[in-house]
Amino acid sequence: NGNFTPPKTVVLVGLMGAGKTCIGKKLAQTLKLPFVDADVEIEKAAGCTISEIFEEHGEVYFRDRERLVIQRLLEGPVQILSTGGGAFMDELTRSTITEKGISLWLRADLDILVERTSRRNHRPLLRNGNHREILSRLIKERYPIYEQADITTESEEGSADLTTRNALLGLQ
Ligand code: S3P
Repeated sequence: NGNFTPPKTVVLVGLMGAGKTCIGKKLAQTLKLPFVDADVEIEKAAGCTISEIFEEHGEVYFRDRERLVIQRLLEGPVQILSTGGGAFMDELTRSTITEKGISLWLRADLDILVERTSRRNHRPLLRNGNHREILSRLIKERYPIYEQADITTESEEGSADLTTRNALLGLQ
C-alpha cells in the first residue's frame, strides 16, 4: 500500500543532533504529508530566536511557549512534527503528544550526537560547556523518558524513514 497515512500526527522526539529535522523531512516525503518543526514555529510566534527567548525570558518561559505551540499544531491535520529535545520531557507536553499524536523516538549514540552538534552552535543548552559531557548527562536524564515513545527508530540507519513507515504500519 503506497498511500498509507498514519491516523495521527507523528511527533519526532530525541536529543539535539539525533536527526529529527532531517529524518522528519524524509519521512514526510515518504508519507506525502506536510513537515513542521516546532522550534521554527516557536521562533515565528515569538518573532525572535530560541537563544534569544532563553536569554531574555529563561527556560521555563520557553517550555510554556513550546507547550502551547505543540498543542496548537496537534489540533491541526495529520502531519510530521519535529520537536525540540526537551519537549517530550515536559510532563504536560508529553501527555498532549501521547494523547493526540504518535510519538517517535529517534535514538542515537553519544558519539553521533557529539559529532552532529559540533558543526553549529545555535543551541542554548550546549553553549556553556563541553558537548560530550552535556550530552552524556542528557542521555542519562532523558533516555528513560524517551523510551516511553510509541515507536523507536535508530537514527543512524540509512533508511530510518522507511523503517519508521513500517513501524507505523505495524501499529495499525
Ligand atoms: C532543546 C533542544 C533544541 C531547542 C532548545 C532546547 C533541548 O531543539 O528546543 O534549544 O532541551 O534539548 P533541537 O533538539 O531541535 O536541537
